[in-house]
Amino acid sequence: MYNIAVIAGDGIGPEVIREGLKVLDALSDTEGLQLNYTHYDLGGERYLRTGEILPDSVLAELRNFDAIYLGAIGHPEVKPGILEKGLLLRLRFELDLYINLRPIKLFPGVETPLKDKGPQDIDFVVVRENTEGQYAGAGGILRKGTPHEIAIQESVCTRMGVERCLRYAFEYARRRNKGKKVTLCGKTNVLTYVFDLWSRVFHEVGARDYPDITRDYAHVDATVMWMVKNPEWFDVIVTENMFGDIITDLGAMLQGGMGIAAGGNINPGGVSMFEPIGGSAPKYTGQNVVNPLAAIGAAGMMLDTLGETAAAEKIEKAIMKVCEKHLKSLAAGQMGYTTQEVGDLVVKYL
Ligand code: IPM
Ligand code: MN
Repeated sequence: MYNIAVIAGDGIGPEVIREGLKVLDALSDTEGLQLNYTHYDLGGERYLRTGEILPDSVLAELRNFDAIYLGAIGHPEVKPGILEKGLLLRLRFELDLYINLRPIKLFPGVETPLKDKGPQDIDFVVVRENTEGQYAGAGGILRKGTPHEIAIQESVCTRMGVERCLRYAFEYARRRNKGKKVTLCGKTNVLTYVFDLWSRVFHEVGARDYPDITRDYAHVDATVMWMVKNPEWFDVIVTENMFGDIITDLGAMLQGGMGIAAGGNINPGGVSMFEPIGGSAPKYTGQNVVNPLAAIGAAGMMLDTLGETAAAEKIEKAIMKVCEKHLKSLAAGQMGYTTQEVGDLVVKYL
């Protein structure tokens, strides 16, 4: 039995979460899982209505769930930064969701923009540090609005934060048992403080505790180049917060776009949060045209992290069948099916 907090959120969030819950319910029947959902009304609508973003009492409740299932946050009438910082990033920091896990996997039948690359070439995972770096919020603005204005945004990396992220990546490569390789993505030639720390800990911890895992390194600019040219070289990429943000959107495109890209915000010792990474897509809201596979995939990642690996695998296999046998495209409005029909198809293949 698992208690799940559901934050459907803004825009198309509720539509895709509905399909994810449909799939989870179908699976519960056959797998003998009991999932109890508690729905939370958070996001742009509530903020505009009441001025509340994430009340402390809600945050306190969220700590007690087994997992959080999130749709999307973002509203066209709310200034950029308010909901992101007040809700999504606050949850990451307060719940110490220190891993952002982003599988980049091209399923059979899905089109990738990379010429001559297929599912055998595009199958890796990005482990992004999720609580430090420039996202930590260190810095400020001095003499704002004057010609002498100064803006500083510092990157904060701690030994503890770096080490736990690296360990997660090594463990993940071991469990995944594919290439048994971890590539550190950094910028040791310019960001000589931050990546001095990252690479020292990478080699120290890797050599001592993970001798079975190959260690590799690539600068971030080279990483994006290789992701496009030779994605098959990667197994697990580990990186700091901002680089991870950028390279995972590129990764999402390689695997067929935002319609399929799922992510986990993970605290291995606590409650974790799973989401489709595509955002609220306001222009498609309520039209039943967006692809719910990313949200359904996020539900699968949630089960996997909860230890329900067999159930998680069933979801992934069903998603693969739907991609291979049905969808004309993964893009909103071009699937050849509605959002709800895609959810039904996944249920059929479970
Ligand atoms: C992501 C998003 C967030 C981030 C935004 C919405 C704050 O882009 O999850 O990758 O930058 O981390
Ligand atoms: Mn991002």
